[in-house]
Amino acid sequence: MHQFQGVTSDLLECNPFEKIGKEWMLVTAGNEEKANTMTASWGGLGVMWGKNVAYVVIRQSRYTKEFIDKEGTFSLSFLGENHRNMMKYLGSVSGRTEDKMREANVELDYEKGIPYVDQGNLVLICKVMSATKLQPSDFRQEGLEKQWYSDKDYHTLYIAEITDILAR
Ligand SMILES: Cc1cc2nc3c(=O)[nH]c(=O)nc-3n(C[C@H](O)[C@H](O)[C@H](O)COP(=O)(O)O)c2cc1C
Repeated sequence: MHQFQGVTSDLLECNPFEKIGKEWMLVTAGNEEKANTMTASWGGLGVMWGKNVAYVVIRQSRYTKEFIDKEGTFSLSFLGENHRNMMKYLGSVSGRTEDKMREANVELDYEKGIPYVDQGNLVLICKVMSATKLQPSDFRQEGLEKQWYSDKDYHTLYIAEITDILAR
C-alpha cells in the first residue's frame, strides 16, 4: 500500500488512446466511508478552462455516477494487463446489487479523502468542472443514437481538473 509518488504532468508519459481505450481504467468515487468503482474505456485527457483535465462519460444507470455527483470528485486508476479479469468483472456487475469490490479484492486508498484503487500503477485524482448529459439533439453523426442509445441510457460527460497524479 501507498508506494505512490506524486508527479507533475510533464513527467506523465502516456498515449491516451492506448491507456484508456486498450488498457482501460477504473473510475472510483465516494468517500472514506462508502465508495464504488467501475471500469471505463471511453474518455480522454486534455486541456480545458486553463487546466489539465480528464473527461469521462458515465451512463445514467451506473451506481458510480451517484457517488461522482454527490462528491464532485473521482479518481482514474490504471491497473494494466494483469488485472484484466478484475476490470472485466467490475465492468459487468453493479455495486448497487453486489459487494463487487470485496468480491474482486479491490484495495482502496485515499488522496485527500478521494478514493482510488491501490492496485493501480498510475492514478489521476479529478475534480469535476462540468457535467453535461448528452441528449439526442447533441449528436451530429447519423447512427450514434441508434447504435449506442437504443435503451435511452444516455451518458453524462464529465470534464474534470486533474488535481493530483500518483505513479509508482
Ligand atoms: C471495458 C469496459 C469499458 C466500459 N466503459 C464504460 C464507460 O466508459 N462508461 C460507462 O458508463 N460504462 C462503461 N462500462 C460499463 C460499466 O463499467 C458497468 O456498467 C459497471 O457494471 C457499472 O458499475 P456500477 O453500477 O457499480 O457503477 C464499461 C465496461 C467495460 C467492461
